[in-house]
Amino acid sequence: MLSRVTARALSAPSAARFFSASAAHQTKVAVLGAGGGIGQPLSLLLKSDPLVTSLSLYDIRGAPGVAADVSHVDTASEVKGYAADQLDQALEGVKVVVIPAGVPRKMTRDDLFNTNASIVRDLAAAVARVAPEAHVLVISNPVNSTVPIVAATLEKAGVFNPRHLFGITTLDVVRAARFLAGVTGSTPDKTVVPVIGGHSGATIVPLLSQTPLGKGVTGEAYKALVNRIQFGGDEVVKAKDGAGSATLSMAYAGAKFTNSLLRGLNGEKGVVTPTFVKSPLFADQGIDFFSTNVELGLDGVEKIHPVGPLSAEEEALLAACLPELKKNIEKGKAFVA
Ligand code: NAD
Ligand code: LMR
Repeated sequence: MLSRVTARALSAPSAARFFSASAAHQTKVAVLGAGGGIGQPLSLLLKSDPLVTSLSLYDIRGAPGVAADVSHVDTASEVKGYAADQLDQALEGVKVVVIPAGVPRKMTRDDLFNTNASIVRDLAAAVARVAPEAHVLVISNPVNSTVPIVAATLEKAGVFNPRHLFGITTLDVVRAARFLAGVTGSTPDKTVVPVIGGHSGATIVPLLSQTPLGKGVTGEAYKALVNRIQFGGDEVVKAKDGAGSATLSMAYAGAKFTNSLLRGLNGEKGVVTPTFVKSPLFADQGIDFFSTNVELGLDGVEKIHPVGPLSAEEEALLAACLPELKKNIEKGKAFVA
C-alpha cells in the first residue's frame, strides 16, 4: 500500500538564510491572534522580513498595543493594530493571513479542540468574506483538525482554493534539524530532515533515512530521537509548568514558513518545505490532508512531493500515523458539517 508513494526521492529543502529577499515584490500580511505568546514575537519577526510591506495585527485583546510597539522597529513595513470589533478592517487587502489565535494546551493538543475549533472557523469565515484570495497559514492547534475546519469553512463560502491553505508543521522540521544536529555533533543546516504526516505525537513522522547524517542514527539512539521530535511540544509544555506551550520557537518557525511562502509568491524557484495541505497522497484512504515536502510558487502550492523512500522503521511510523490523522481530520470536518 505504501510503496506507491515511495517511488521518488525527495528533493531536500534548501538551507536558505532565515529571511531571504531575493525577489522584488512585497506583501501585506495579517496576524490573527497577534497579542498572544506566539503572536507577539511572530509579529516582531514579520516586521523584520523585507518581503512584508505591511503588517495588520488583530486580536480580541491587545493588538493595537503590540502594533504600536512593533511599529517603531526601523524596517520599511507599515504596521497597524486592530481591536476586537475590527476583524474585517484588519483583513482588507491582505495577501497572507497567519493564524496563531486560540488557547495553548495543558494536556493533549486534542483537548484544545472545543475552544479553538470555533475560533478558527469564525476567523476563516471572515477571511472568506473579506480576503477570499488570501493564503491562510494555520498555527492554532490541533492543526490536524483546524486545517480541515478552515478548508470546510472556505468551501462552504465557495472560496476554498487548496493551493492557498497551509497547516504550519515547520516547528517539527525545526526541531528535527536541531535535535539531529545535537545527536551527531553537526549543525542544523547540515541536518535538515523532512517531517511528514501531521502535527501531534504519532502523526509526526520524521524521515531521518532521507538525511545523510540521519541515516547513521540507529537502535536506541534512533528511537529516542524520533520520540523527542514527535513529543518536542511536551518538553516545552512541561518546562513551562502550566504557563503554556512553545511560543518563541513557534514564532521563529511561523516567520520562517511565511518567508518561504512569500519567496514562492514572488517567483523564487525551488522553495520546498514540508507543510500540511490538501493532498492526494493518501486521499484513497480517506486522508485528504497530509504534510510532505511542498514546492511553493506564484500561486501557493505548486507541487506536492511524494513521501519518498522509507526505511522499515519509517514504514511502521507512517502506519501508526495514518489512522490517528484520519480521526483528527474527520473530527474537524464533522465540526463544520
Ligand atoms: P496565547 O493564549 O498566548 O495566545 C493566543 C491569542 O489568541 C491570545 O492573545 C488571544 O486573545 C487570541 N485570541 C483568542 N481568540 C481569538 C479570536 N477569536 N480572534 C483573534 N484572536 C484571538 O496562545 P499561544 O501560546 O500563542 O498559542 C496559540 C495557538 O498556537 C495554540 O492553539 C497553540 O496550541 C498553537 N501552537 C501551534 C504550534 C504549531 O506548531 N502549529 C506551536 C505552538 C503553539
Ligand atoms: C508544539 O509542538 O510545541 C505545539 O504544537 C504546542 C503544543 O501544544 O505542544
